[in-house]
Amino acid sequence: MATSLPPYVDPLSMEVLFSVDQIAERVQSIGKQISEDYAGQTVVLIGVLKGAAIFLADLARSISVDNTFDFVAVSSYGRARVSSGAVKLIKDIDNPIEGKHVILVEDILDTGLTLSYLRGLMLQHKPASLKIATCLDKPERRLVPIESDYTCFQIPNRFVIGYGMDYAERYRGVADIRIFPETVPGH
Ligand code: IMP
Repeated sequence: MATSLPPYVDPLSMEVLFSVDQIAERVQSIGKQISEDYAGQTVVLIGVLKGAAIFLADLARSISVDNTFDFVAVSSYGRARVSSGAVKLIKDIDNPIEGKHVILVEDILDTGLTLSYLRGLMLQHKPASLKIATCLDKPERRLVPIESDYTCFQIPNRFVIGYGMDYAERYRGVADIRIFPETVPGH
């Protein structure tokens, strides 16, 4: 079935919210914190596809303690910029996490529906501990009570793209984080 994409917007025309250097500095800092918190232990990083892939890749390389990683995928917003509220698991973890120290790694904590669903699911596997790392946090959008343990940046209620984050699957490869314009014809 043919799906029509919204018009392409040149990401270079979008306002930069966080530069490559600012992101790298915060990821390093979180990586250091995680390395201290889990000293002498092994951590399983579980990334939420696809948005967290780039953040997880950078975070894993900034962590000095033993770590492995896995991925889950949930139903996405598709072209909508607001959540339907329904979260569905599309891909489960590959390896057991019982008795392990797990960090769920997500691109954005927005309404909280995705991470609270995933947290509940992961807790059923009886990990030794479960924490959350998110690149961005939009606290004013929260619909369910959930907080991130490791956050790069808190942001206001703006729609952003880049550093793994998309709009209609585009712009994930943009190296910095930019604000998607609110007034684009066809969006
Ligand atoms: P939540 O379930 O509402 O917390 O949504 C989390 C997911 O919504 C994120 O993993 C993103 O995929 C998506 N999302 C929320 N805000 C944005 C945004 O500003 N840009 C791109 N994706 C977003």
